[in-house]
Amino acid sequence: MSNVHEGDPVYERFRFLVNAPALFNAVTTAVELGVFRYLQEHDRASFEELHAVTGIPAHQLRVLLQGVCSTGLLTRTDGQYANSPVAADLLATDAPDSWSHILVGWKEVYYPAFSHMTGALRAGTNTALADHPGDEPTLYQRLSRNPELEAVFHRAMSAFTLRSVDALVERSEFASVRHLLDIGGGDGTTSAEFARRHPGLRSTVFDMPSVSRLAGDGAAAELADRVRLHPGDIFEDAFPPGADAVLFSHVLEIFAEEQILALLTKAYDALPAGGKVFVYGFNVSDDETEGIFSARLGLYFNVLASGRGMAYPAKDYEEWLRRVGFTEVRTVGGLPYEHGLTLGTKA
Ligand SMILES: C[S@@+](CC[C@H](N)C(=O)[O-])C[C@H]1O[C@@H](n2cnc3c(N)ncnc32)[C@H](O)[C@@H]1O
Repeated sequence: MSNVHEGDPVYERFRFLVNAPALFNAVTTAVELGVFRYLQEHDRASFEELHAVTGIPAHQLRVLLQGVCSTGLLTRTDGQYANSPVAADLLATDAPDSWSHILVGWKEVYYPAFSHMTGALRAGTNTALADHPGDEPTLYQRLSRNPELEAVFHRAMSAFTLRSVDALVERSEFASVRHLLDIGGGDGTTSAEFARRHPGLRSTVFDMPSVSRLAGDGAAAELADRVRLHPGDIFEDAFPPGADAVLFSHVLEIFAEEQILALLTKAYDALPAGGKVFVYGFNVSDDETEGIFSARLGLYFNVLASGRGMAYPAKDYEEWLRRVGFTEVRTVGGLPYEHGLTLGTKA
């Protein structure tokens, strides 16, 4: 029987989607075995060379390479394997912005959780968190008990941030900022990029103590005179004084409305008149039908990370900023990777 949906883009996407979990893992395995890196260094390689380099039994390597070739990330011509341009750009190095770190992070942290999805959504809470020891309500807190996994998680987050942060730090709205308060600033990657681009800017990174320790070893350390660490709990502890701008980068989306309003109120209270707030992150379209990065993120929050939150549409952030008192509220939409920047000013 012929397939009546052949050629329908929805069917084409469906066909890829239902095979994607296996193919995602095949690509990540090829990353972990150093296949893309080797092909980058040697331009191309035969099966025998890859067999020697990876140490994988010949039949299993044949199956793996077939899987990765089927995605188009590897090509095979006259028996020689090579990286596609996309693989060469995204997967072939260990650089801090390499997608290889992101894939490993998603494999280790995100995707094991999604097998709990039906139960978690039914229960209305992040039941997948049970796989991470501890009694704290969020993944971020529990990861502090597992420094190895926490480092994998933040390496992935930092790589994703580096892939998308240029559109943020280059915005002219930051040119006049003197002291940025980077709430939930993670390992300091974003603040370090701001300090590099804006020599007159310093930043205070407010994150949990275990994450601040990672920041102390990372990119922020090179700019320690202008990127300061402020370990603590963003809900329990006061925001440090002295900033003329507050940044929430990939932070508000983790939480529910009442928590977001509490954080925005703390930002408002910490700012002087004329101070700015910046909300940066994934935005779904206003009608909540578009954005596959955003969709994945919202599911991850609800199944594992916090049990709430989503990649809210920009209009939600605008309404919340106005509600806590900010004026001149507007959004710069259409930034790479489904990102948006919503801004407000304290009158
Ligand atoms: C998704 S990451 C964003 C990191 C960074 N801002 C970026 O854009 O890459 C969220 C951050 O919020 C931090 N966080 C979550 N809950 C927190 C809390 N209660 N107190 C302090 N930091 C918290 C996490 O440790 C994590 O670094």
